[in-house]
Amino acid sequence: MIVTGRVLLLPSQRQKRSSHSRGTTVYNVVISGTGLYTPANSISNDELVESFNTYVHRFNSENAAAIEAGEIQPLPESSSAFIEKASGIKSRYVTDKAGILDPERMVPRIPERSNDEWSILCEMSVKAAEEALARAGKTAADIDGVIVACSNLQRAYPAVAIEVQAALGIKGFGFDMNVACSSATFGIQNAVNSIKLGQARAILMVNPEICTGHMNFRDRDSHFIFGDACTAVIIEREDLATSAQQWDVISTKLVTEFSNNIRNNFGFLNRAAEEHMNDPDKLFIQEGRKVFKEVCPMVAELIGEHLAENDIAVESVKRFWLHQANLNMNHLIVRRLLGRDATEEEAPVILDTYANTSSAGSVIAFHKHQDDLPSGSLGVLSSFGAGYSIGSVILRKR
Ligand code: COA
Repeated sequence: MIVTGRVLLLPSQRQKRSSHSRGTTVYNVVISGTGLYTPANSISNDELVESFNTYVHRFNSENAAAIEAGEIQPLPESSSAFIEKASGIKSRYVTDKAGILDPERMVPRIPERSNDEWSILCEMSVKAAEEALARAGKTAADIDGVIVACSNLQRAYPAVAIEVQAALGIKGFGFDMNVACSSATFGIQNAVNSIKLGQARAILMVNPEICTGHMNFRDRDSHFIFGDACTAVIIEREDLATSAQQWDVISTKLVTEFSNNIRNNFGFLNRAAEEHMNDPDKLFIQEGRKVFKEVCPMVAELIGEHLAENDIAVESVKRFWLHQANLNMNHLIVRRLLGRDATEEEAPVILDTYANTSSAGSVIAFHKHQDDLPSGSLGVLSSFGAGYSIGSVILRKR
């Protein structure tokens, strides 16, 4: 990259040089493969709304006397048109369709497995990981660590990452981490730092998200928001990478700021206050409008600062793989950055068919929309969500 006659070193290159002069090796890092597991079943807005409205009609007729007496309010219907307009979501993939759509149940039915079977999070992680490994041209023997980074871990311990290690035959270390929708970018930073310092040659980072398990399908404001999926990313030392498609990790930047506007109070202490165990706050709850207003400027600011710190003009970024929660949010963020509307090529959308898959969303966008970009293209992978937590990863195609 030549700028006015001088060689502009990217930060990773600068670091490598300065570290060499101190006698330590700091490795350059690439993303060398990605993988995606998509559940077989999908639910359209119409199907979801039909189930919700059946529940509403039953509730209102069973409580007709109390409604008539003014003791409770009738429940309002949901609408497909509202969902698509407010969020951009048209359908979502789910682990169990029947349980969600049954108006008597409205919860996915996912049978418990014995300790002798791989857990469902492990199983979906393995499926996504196998694709990522194949695309990276690597086997389990090349991987030194596994990070499971997601919003909802299905048990307290042992770490799902250690189970994934066992299922794939990976040696080294594994750990779980949760930064809600931002888990993937925070996971990537963790992996990048371990590899830079020589603690691992390559790390598998997976994002198994069964978001439908933490949703309240009886809540009109949020019953349409989430879907299920799992993504996997191979993060690797550049000098060992051999895959056809590689992305230099130029820099990562994270920020968190406490907010109650997206919250889930489910946890191991719930049973110690059993009178509240089934309250709605033990599932996903949010103040959607406040989230929208507060998070968009924070994301645009973080990405803008991150690019500036790396001497990269916003206009030279060919693609923004943004967190996939709300289409209007993504439009607003890129408009703030570019000063104009982005094309769909610049900010690809997958939330129309996947809905919000929490940490997996931006990685799905990256996985599905990277092949067409030529060598040298710059892109930003960015997540945002509960915490608040925001992550930005600047990538350049090799
Ligand atoms: N069907 C029909 N109408 C609905 C509805 C539904 N399912 N849900 C809400 N409405 C109504 C509301 O009652 C309200 O009606 P009113 O104007 O008569 O009071 C109106 O639609 C607007 O509701 P509001 O909640 O303000 O909608 P919104 O435009 O803010 O969109 C979200 C809601 C959730 C889609 C949007 O706020 C959002 O996506 N925010 C960001 C959330 C996010 O990214 N979270 C991160 C999760 S990790």
